[in-house]
Amino acid sequence: MKKHIFNAGPAILPDEVLQRASESVVEYDGSDMSLLTISHRGKEFEKILEESRQMVKDLLGVPNEYDVLFLQGGASMQFCMVPYNLLDDGKTASYIDTGSWANKAIKEAKFFGNVNVVASSEDDGYTYIPKDYTISDKSQYLHITTNNTIYGTQFHQEPNTYIPLVADMSSDLFSRRIDPSEFDLIYAGAQKNLGPAGVTLVITKKDIGNRVKRDIPTMLDYQTHIDKGSAFNTPPVFAIYVCYLTLQWLRDNGGIKAMEETNKQKAATLYEEIDKNPLFKGVAHQDDRSYMNATFVINEPGLEATFLKEAEQEGFSGLKGHRSVGGFRASLYNALPIEEVTALGRFILDSCYLRVGLLEVIVPLFFQALLKIQYSINGSHISK
Ligand SMILES: Cc1ncc(COP(=O)(O)O)c(C=O)c1O
Repeated sequence: MKKHIFNAGPAILPDEVLQRASESVVEYDGSDMSLLTISHRGKEFEKILEESRQMVKDLLGVPNEYDVLFLQGGASMQFCMVPYNLLDDGKTASYIDTGSWANKAIKEAKFFGNVNVVASSEDDGYTYIPKDYTISDKSQYLHITTNNTIYGTQFHQEPNTYIPLVADMSSDLFSRRIDPSEFDLIYAGAQKNLGPAGVTLVITKKDIGNRVKRDIPTMLDYQTHIDKGSAFNTPPVFAIYVCYLTLQWLRDNGGIKAMEETNKQKAATLYEEIDKNPLFKGVAHQDDRSYMNATFVINEPGLEATFLKEAEQEGFSGLKGHRSVGGFRASLYNALPIEEVTALGRFILDSCYLRVGLLEVIVPLFFQALLKIQYSINGSHISK
């Protein structure tokens, strides 16, 4: 049975990327060698690295004064590399606390300097993005997590600030248009929209070195990787190659704008189904809902395990919410076709028919449809 892959990460990748990647393991591009055995200093890999870097720049519109790095250690390593390179002893960095990943970043920053948590959505289980806060201009940077994979919330507008902005974009980079010039540094573990686990993308201003007074160990110093073109030590050749193939797929399928449009359609399809369905409820506040990770719960908690079991039987993989919050999560990354989301919507509706009874579903749906028609005749005021 074909699986519908809604995993949060490692996540779905385009079929053609998987096909080409698997072929390269046997023989890379007529070289009589497996990609796994080519030299990371050879011309084949140099080309892969250089073209990948260029595609990231072209796709996202990265200005010249920025560099693109392929590093290791996951986004979690960036939680420590960022303050190591940007936060001086005795100085302060500002963080917005939007949940578990933000907290892990905060914890690491405290090893290096003072942390000012300028806003937090902990009071409501991280179901929204804080909006009102002031950031001291003495802060060395402001750190945000643009998409909160676990809670299903997303910044739809980046904070407006003059201090350097640093963003963990692990779960929404390449899913929507951004203006990289608003950030001093962006990082993302590859395993959502870019490739397999094992490589981390960093987009940074070239002058990121020398911002702090302390000495930094070589591997943790951004300057090392800028100077050595992401090949100071042996890079994860295969993981970077899969990113290269995914970047080509992105480019050949309309680029970021096209991805953003489809992602919005996918999210709208799913949220609409959840909202009109009396058996399920969305978790995140509507204005802050993520286009990448839709979180929802069932109104009868006793049915959670049954729903998951039936979903698995129907081939829907990865719908279990993160272990720290429970419920369900459907991840809608770039490579997930819209048809899969429609299929999930149908499955959710069928589940409801089964449990709540046809009448109780159809009556509210009928009234919703009536309301829609009435609004479209009279002019809708819903979105105001
Ligand atoms: C937003 C976000 N930040 C950081 C991480 C941690 O990434 P890694 O496992 O690559 O360290 C994740 C993992 O899912 C994530 O979703």
